Amino acid sequence: MQERSMRKMWAVLALILIVSFSWLGLLGNEIHRQAPPVPSAVVTRSGETVFTRDDIQTGRQVYQSMGGQQVGSIWGHGGYLAPDWSADWLHRESLVILDGWAEAEYGRAYGALAAEDQARLQTRLQAAQRENTYDPTTGHIVISDDRAAAIAVVSRHYVDLFGDAHALEGLREDYAIANNAIPDPARREAMTAFFFWSAWATTTQRPDEEVTYTNNWPHEPLVGNAPSGPNIMWSIASVILLIAGIAALVWWHAGRKEEEAPVPPKEDPFTGLKPTASMKATRKYFWTVIALFLAQIFLGAVTAHYAVEGHDFYGIPISDIIPYAVTRTWHTQLAIFWIATAWLATGLYLAPVLGGKEPKFQALGVNVLYVALLIVVVGSMAGEWLGVQQVFDLDMNFWFGHQGWEYVDLGRFWQLLLFAGLMIWLGLVGRALWPALKQPGEGRPLTVILFLSTIAIGLFYGAGLTWGKHTHLSMIEYWRWWVVHLWVEGFFEVFATAAIALLLVKLGLVRARTANHGVLFATIIFLTGGVLGTLHHLYFTGATTSVIAVGAVFSALEVVPLALIGHEALENYRMTKAARWVQNYKWPLYFFVGVCFWNLVGAGLLGFLINPPISLYYVQGLNLTATHGHAALFGVYGLLGIGLMLFCFRGLFAKSAWSDKMLAWSFWLLNGGLAMMVFMSLFPVGVLQAHASITEGLWYARSAEFLQQEIIHFLVWMRVPGDIVFSAGAFVLAAFAARLVWAGFRGQREDNAPVATPAE
Ligand code: HEM
Ligand SMILES: [Fe+2]
Repeated sequence: MQERSMRKMWAVLALILIVSFSWLGLLGNEIHRQAPPVPSAVVTRSGETVFTRDDIQTGRQVYQSMGGQQVGSIWGHGGYLAPDWSADWLHRESLVILDGWAEAEYGRAYGALAAEDQARLQTRLQAAQRENTYDPTTGHIVISDDRAAAIAVVSRHYVDLFGDAHALEGLREDYAIANNAIPDPARREAMTAFFFWSAWATTTQRPDEEVTYTNNWPHEPLVGNAPSGPNIMWSIASVILLIAGIAALVWWHAGRKEEEAPVPPKEDPFTGLKPTASMKATRKYFWTVIALFLAQIFLGAVTAHYAVEGHDFYGIPISDIIPYAVTRTWHTQLAIFWIATAWLATGLYLAPVLGGKEPKFQALGVNVLYVALLIVVVGSMAGEWLGVQQVFDLDMNFWFGHQGWEYVDLGRFWQLLLFAGLMIWLGLVGRALWPALKQPGEGRPLTVILFLSTIAIGLFYGAGLTWGKHTHLSMIEYWRWWVVHLWVEGFFEVFATAAIALLLVKLGLVRARTANHGVLFATIIFLTGGVLGTLHHLYFTGATTSVIAVGAVFSALEVVPLALIGHEALENYRMTKAARWVQNYKWPLYFFVGVCFWNLVGAGLLGFLINPPISLYYVQGLNLTATHGHAALFGVYGLLGIGLMLFCFRGLFAKSAWSDKMLAWSFWLLNGGLAMMVFMSLFPVGVLQAHASITEGLWYARSAEFLQQEIIHFLVWMRVPGDIVFSAGAFVLAAFAARLVWAGFRGQREDNAPVATPAE
């Protein structure tokens, strides 16, 4: 019976994956075909060339080399402190044109005109800017002389901004852009071509349609950019669908017989576990995790501080040495690196335990992989720094410097190395796990799911290798989110569920049968929404309405399982009381409870807050996105990484050195600090910004005028208490780890024979 139903579920999963990926592929093809054209030239009606394709492409490379999406954003994707350059350009260009017309016709600036006269000019501007003058036969975009004159003015502004013009000193500080960030004037000139093009796409209507290439994003009343009809309709549909999904799941849950929890074993099943040489070799991975975590926190504090002191850190001028572009890059990259390292190490630690023996040369493999990963971390970070310092030529920058794409910032060479590292890791884990994968039995399905999720994590990083230097921006976004989204909202969720379940089964706290069923079911639900949900990042990146429709509907489904995850948190919590010896694992299990909690709050609630297209239309690239990003990424995967690490520490170090008290402090400080930073600072800033974006336009919510207000400064300062509490939690964790090592040095370590004993 169980067998049959499992077989059915595997079939359903396979079917869902085939359908979802085919659909995602088809929509990718559509995005490719319908992307806003990159013209061969932008020319005026009188025949002058303003920009060439080469300018636009070179300009994009310049933008990338400067740190790209880490310094402001394009089409809403990137950093939050400097403006969204597409929205900023759009607004500036519109104002210059309107001012020109107002001076010519009324002898006054646009702002000084009567509302009626303003409306007249605005109507004219809308018609002019929204008209699509791209000619596919010549490849030219034809613009009026008025617009060309405005472009010259706006370009000047950016050329000055990224240089060292004295007049813009204050604005650079507000945006936390280093002085002379791009010393070469030719590079700065080229970058303006890219900014122009990105803004042109946001305001130009698709041929024969009323909606622009970016589905009318960003909100900008001056050019008539307002949410499209389908945007609103699919938003409503997504909310209804979410309610329906939750109802269905509750109904399913209610009809299910709760299985009794098994009687836990008398003794800790891992008591006899002797770490093998390869298992012991994972210790240095964990030290690295802690070091990278501390470094990440420090860089986060510096990055946040740049919002109030654009060039300094508490008075120390640091922006020439490590500018905001670098600290933010490292901060976001390190998050991925340390979380990934914790998981990789857990995989390496557990594989011989599950497989029951140590394969030959496994320890050597683990050591080689460690060196390779270290090279990637240090090399890619150094490359990013050199890139931002403008050391490389633009093509070299693509390979070794800063690619400028948030979360996939590292140069292509480092990306390839990382991909190779992930493949080596799969090989190492696979060979050690092989006996367990081969052996039929109740324990197998869970191990198989876990292993499949790790294969998917490894392989899907490959999507980040698909683009080249000049691939269309819409396609880069498409593939970039294959990596980021399919990781965090697809395979990571599966990995998290399966890893926690597997540990609980091995501890004898959950029946294998129950876990197999539960995890496979959860995998089906996660991936049903998760794969096509990728499109919620692409609503406004040059895609068509169908992307909004499919993205809104399927990403809403992602939230369904998260809405009920509180139940799982409670179950994990109860486990800590199942038997006396389970107290040994109390804190790793508490960290898993934290994972469930933040999955509900950070991923589910704060994710859905920005998820309906009508919501994201206004808040993409505002602090509400950051609110969600922090609560979900650290809350779910950070806590999971720490929980898994603690679990491995249990077997790697002397029990006598363990301190539950320190872990209790660390747990509550980390969770409390995260909640404080999210709800006392990021969320309120996000809400104020959302209001500004809805009432005035996106450019305003991201302008220095808005962000440098007293109230915003106050709220940025309100991050400090949370940051301190959070950092204290990390320090306690580090001290705990140091205590384990210290105990090891003092010879308290238990006698470790070099053979693994299976957990059963
Ligand atoms: C644990 C799971 C999740 C993690 C780790 C995660 C993480 C992130 C991160 C890091 C970002 C980028 C933030 C930035 O640009 O600074 C993001 C954006 C976003 N996430 Fe999530 N997320 C998760 C789950 C979800 C869920 C369940 C939803 C809703 C269905 C969701 C909806 C969104 C949306 C709409 C955006 C912004 C889209 C964009 O700007 O491209 N996320 N998420
Ligand atoms: Fe996503």
